[in-house]
Amino acid sequence: MKRDYDSVYRQLSALLEGENDPVVRMAETAAVVHEAFGFWWTGFYRIAPLASGAGSELLLGPFQGPVACIHIPYGKGVCGTAWARRETVVVPDVEQFPGHIACSSESRSEIVVPVFGPDGTVTAVLDIDSRDLGAFSQDDVPGLERIASLL
Ligand code: SME
Repeated sequence: MKRDYDSVYRQLSALLEGENDPVVRMAETAAVVHEAFGFWWTGFYRIAPLASGAGSELLLGPFQGPVACIHIPYGKGVCGTAWARRETVVVPDVEQFPGHIACSSESRSEIVVPVFGPDGTVTAVLDIDSRDLGAFSQDDVPGLERIASLL
């Protein structure tokens, strides 16, 4: 499915102009992307220090949609895999992805896009879930990576 990510990018660029707070930027991005395409869940997990102080994890950030898992370890699930690989992961069928973390039994397909900081490290991931099988493909990757570059 071809989605018009360019118009969402333009809308977000205008909305976020001059806004430097990362929570504001993630919150507005989740809202705009979610509304534009009617996804099931759209949101962010941020890389955050573990409470134990030893290492980092993905911690739930601003999102739109149903209640979600709060903690995701490095390399686990689709989100932790995108973080570890430092690249977008497209999952047309979540049941075919070993280790997929089912926050919602309704979710059938998913795409996770890393967000990079100025120094090139992954600072967060943008996670989008659909209730439809095969909702995401390589067609979605450039548009969503461009949107993630706004964060
Ligand atoms: N399914 C994700 C977990 C996050 S929820 O989809 C919101 C994963 O496997 O990492």
